[in-house]
Amino acid sequence: MAFNIGLLGLGTVGTSTAEILLDTAGRNSLLKEIIIKQVGVSSLDKPRKVQFPSGVMTTDLEGIVNDPDIDIVVELLGGLEPARSLILQAIANGKHVVTANKAVIARYGDEIYTAANKTKVYVLLEAAVGGGIPIIKPLKQSLGVNRIKRVTGIVNGTTNYILTEMSANGADFADVLAEAQKLGYAEADPTADIDGWDAADKIAILATIAFGERIKREEISCEGIRTINATDISYAEQLGFVIKLLAIAQSSKSDSLEVRVHPTLVPKEHPLASINDVYNAILVEGEPLGQVMFFGPGAGGGATASAVVSDIINIAGILKSSGKTTNLDPLLSCSHQHYASLTPTEEIETRFYVRFLCQDVPGVIGHLGTCFGEHQVSIESVVQIGFKEELAEIVVVTHNVQEGNFRKALAEIKDLEAIDSIPNIIRVL
Ligand code: HSE
Repeated sequence: MAFNIGLLGLGTVGTSTAEILLDTAGRNSLLKEIIIKQVGVSSLDKPRKVQFPSGVMTTDLEGIVNDPDIDIVVELLGGLEPARSLILQAIANGKHVVTANKAVIARYGDEIYTAANKTKVYVLLEAAVGGGIPIIKPLKQSLGVNRIKRVTGIVNGTTNYILTEMSANGADFADVLAEAQKLGYAEADPTADIDGWDAADKIAILATIAFGERIKREEISCEGIRTINATDISYAEQLGFVIKLLAIAQSSKSDSLEVRVHPTLVPKEHPLASINDVYNAILVEGEPLGQVMFFGPGAGGGATASAVVSDIINIAGILKSSGKTTNLDPLLSCSHQHYASLTPTEEIETRFYVRFLCQDVPGVIGHLGTCFGEHQVSIESVVQIGFKEELAEIVVVTHNVQEGNFRKALAEIKDLEAIDSIPNIIRVL
């Protein structure tokens, strides 16, 4: 039996995907039955690492999704359009889809899966989160019987690399970002990574699978790493923490879900604290499982293509055993109907690290304590470590507090005469 693939995109991941499909020795024998029928690219003149027989490469991307001989469309274009429209057209034509496109799935998952369920095709996306780390299928299948309590991930390699470098060398954000761009680790426009949007797309997908409810991407509270500097990294280190950009989804007391992305002080002994450089890791906590952590390369051509091709052979395996799909396997498809209600940020309970610059006069710490106390913010520790140009630097770490109460206390503290500024506020795991 042969299965025809239409590949959309021949960038880093597309090239590695083609390389795996064309070099089958020593790999799963199903690969021998998969044929790259068409490869859609924006330019036929660009030099390519892989060569295809004449006529395989085309700039007619719509022709690929409308080609009746193609069984599986592999979308590796990235970005929202034309990826979304091509995926929908492929589904309408009864083709299965494999995609690495977290942005499209996080925003248009509802539309895409409703269409896929109607025409009874699979849309698989193992490569969309964590690159080469198997996390989508394990969450759906191997861990599917657990009551998931929390999914916590370092799911963006660019920001993890920057924070690791800042921590190792005491360097400032802007310098490390410039160096990362020079080395090709960060994109020329790093906004989606640096501001946490890429991580928010990924946690939206993970939360949907882990908790069985769709997530409105725009409701996810999202903070990036632009405000993190060498001073906070150094204080965090002295207090026993490292700073990581975490994407968190957890069930909350009020039957809603907390889904958020923000830089976080992570205790050094926590399993995620030692995930460095461009690596990703996802910690899943559930009942009765306890904790399980998935770790590995979260980006890169080969790693991501490994996940893409695993999805291709999953579909090929199903088609081989049962011919045309009449009913979708619920452990591979997505049929969530409802949107989760997300806990408003002010109701989320978390610990905070906050750094103040203030006059070094008697009673300042007392005033801080009073303001926090009046808003039910309990303080875990207060340290006055250094001075910055005549101003005392005070760092407070709170116990678990309601974010709304914490913000009200800070609004009052800002107006205290002795307070010069509040240079940074970071949540603590
Ligand atoms: N830009 C992403 C990262 C990789 O830095 O992790 C693709 O998801």
